[in-house]
Amino acid sequence: MKTKKREHRSASLAESQPADPISRTFAQDLFDGVAPSYDTWAQVLTFFQYLPWRRFLVSQMAFRPGNLVLDVCTGTAGVAMEIAHHNNGRIVGLDASQLMLQAGVRAIEKQNLDGRVQLIQGRAEHLPFPDETFDTVVFTYLLRYVQDPDATIRELSRVLKPGGELLSLEFGIPETSWIQALWLIYNKVVMPVMTIPISRGWHRVGCFLGPSISDFCQRYPVHRIAAIWRENGIPLVETRRLFKGVAIVMWGTKGT
Ligand SMILES: C[S@@+](CC[C@H](N)C(=O)[O-])C[C@H]1O[C@@H](n2cnc3c(N)ncnc32)[C@H](O)[C@@H]1O
Repeated sequence: MKTKKREHRSASLAESQPADPISRTFAQDLFDGVAPSYDTWAQVLTFFQYLPWRRFLVSQMAFRPGNLVLDVCTGTAGVAMEIAHHNNGRIVGLDASQLMLQAGVRAIEKQNLDGRVQLIQGRAEHLPFPDETFDTVVFTYLLRYVQDPDATIRELSRVLKPGGELLSLEFGIPETSWIQALWLIYNKVVMPVMTIPISRGWHRVGCFLGPSISDFCQRYPVHRIAAIWRENGIPLVETRRLFKGVAIVMWGTKGT
């Protein structure tokens, strides 16, 4: 009951903002509006693929003992906690949404990971860390929300040590035409409708997501993102399409 009220309040606050997905406050408002129930519905709305995608992402990390890892767009800290289960180092999770981070703090305490995972509020475009701080930098579902993806990737690479690994997870669009047709129906028709009974916050996400992914993938296809990574010191970029291309994982090592 309490949770629903909070979701409604954030959604109506958010609705009074301009709906520009790359405005500074858009993502913050959008995710504040769904934070308390984020983990449950993210799984359901992705046909229970959300956790397997996250696990695949983490499985590509080359861990060394004592690694310092930065998880950008940590949200409710799901990726950060998954990393903590595979790595004995320290993880810093950064996100713009205070309510997502609050849910993350609760989850971290529940899993007794408070000594290992630290969460901070901040923006990916201006990371509050010196150059070459982290052994690994991972970011998830970020670039659709930033004004300048090139500059943001440069910023992520800046805080990565030479020889360190950069990884990302983002939604994509299936390439096979009949799967793409299903994807379009699901994202542009089904999602907006099926999120209505969940909450206003989730309905807002349901209406936003499909157009946001389509628009971003047109402007920034995977080969263009990989080129930006290369221009920013990651010479060899590997890519894996998951669930017929609905999600895309990328990873590479910064040159020394
Ligand atoms: C789809 S959620 C992903 C959360 C988490 N990584 C996961 O996999 O469950 C995207 C997150 O990105 C955050 N975000 C969006 N734009 C951001 C930015 N420019 N800087 C920091 N966080 C941002 C949102 O607040 C939200 O929590």
